[in-house]
Amino acid sequence: MSAPESLLSTKVSTDEEPIERSLRPDSLETYIGQQSIKESLRIALASSKQRKATVDHILLYGPPGLGKTSLAYVVAREMGVAIRTTSGPAISKAGDLAAILTNLQEGDILFIDEIHRLQRSVEEILYPAMEDRCIDIAIGKGPSARIVRLDLPSFTLIGATTRAGSLSHPFRDRFGLVHRLDYYEDEELATILERSSKLLNITISRPALLHIAQRARKTPRVANRLLRRIRDYATVHGKTSEVDLDTAKAALDQLHIDALGLDKIDRDILLLIQQQFTGGPVGLDTLAAASGEERETLEDVIEPYLLRLGFLERSPRGRMITDAARRHLGFSPQMG
Ligand SMILES: Nc1ncnc2c1ncn2[C@@H]1O[C@H](COP(=O)(O)OP(=O)(O)O)[C@@H](O)[C@H]1O
Ligand SMILES: [Mg+2]
Repeated sequence: MSAPESLLSTKVSTDEEPIERSLRPDSLETYIGQQSIKESLRIALASSKQRKATVDHILLYGPPGLGKTSLAYVVAREMGVAIRTTSGPAISKAGDLAAILTNLQEGDILFIDEIHRLQRSVEEILYPAMEDRCIDIAIGKGPSARIVRLDLPSFTLIGATTRAGSLSHPFRDRFGLVHRLDYYEDEELATILERSSKLLNITISRPALLHIAQRARKTPRVANRLLRRIRDYATVHGKTSEVDLDTAKAALDQLHIDALGLDKIDRDILLLIQQQFTGGPVGLDTLAAASGEERETLEDVIEPYLLRLGFLERSPRGRMITDAARRHLGFSPQMG
């Protein structure tokens, strides 16, 4: 048996992909939470439908698992258009992007995940494509080479990124709609979980759902992963008729997820800062080396939730653990 995927993993394993897809919301209606983003999108979509025009380019950013990809698909559905998906790292040459762009149909959505990882040369092809719906491509080599301008169909680019800060200003400015996805309320997660449990044929009590929500780091992907792990636990323990609160609690305890949704990795990182670096500040690279986690994982996956809990602080000289975190770990504040 392969090791279970990490609850926080940003990578969706191949086993998990079909499940993730089946749990994706299929309309703005079933897309829970993110009220102000939905409101703004509703207006933008309605207006472009009336004007029979494509929607402005959209940039979605925020920590992994909060629903960026899902929202891109929802927009495509609501507009009744096709969506073509790729990602920053997948486009290695300017020519790859040119091929994608010239194959789009009128009105299509082009979704580029991890858009901050596009190469500079590729990004520069996107500028005229986004702005003037054309690209310049070089044909031939040497003295006979010439530049040909190609018109593109009108399309909407939806970019998703965990770090909007890494996009250049000129790039960012070309998106008409820029939205930061926020962490979810427990009630919203419980609603998402309720729908997921129906789709997965899991009978589970409302208190159990709420309890999972509280321990899911305010993140739908984590909530759905916990739900599946709890289903497995309940199956093994013969508790399938209805998963109740006690079963959910026992399963989460067994996964070493604590009351705030921190798992062992989070606690290890906090402990490391507290004990090895006397509370910090410690630089990200040093922390990465000492913990064996990649710098990117620390910054994009682990840290945002710890910052949001007020357990970490960022200073120019590095990360520092807070008194709140020390209390959570069972240290007395003055021990730092
Ligand atoms: N607002 C939402 N409502 C319902 N389910 C959601 C929502 N956001 C995310 N999900 C669920 O969480 C999973 C991960 O979301 P995804 O869109 O892949 O996140 P991201 O692209 O931001 O990493 C999806 O499979 C979906 O089931
Ligand atoms: Mg995604």
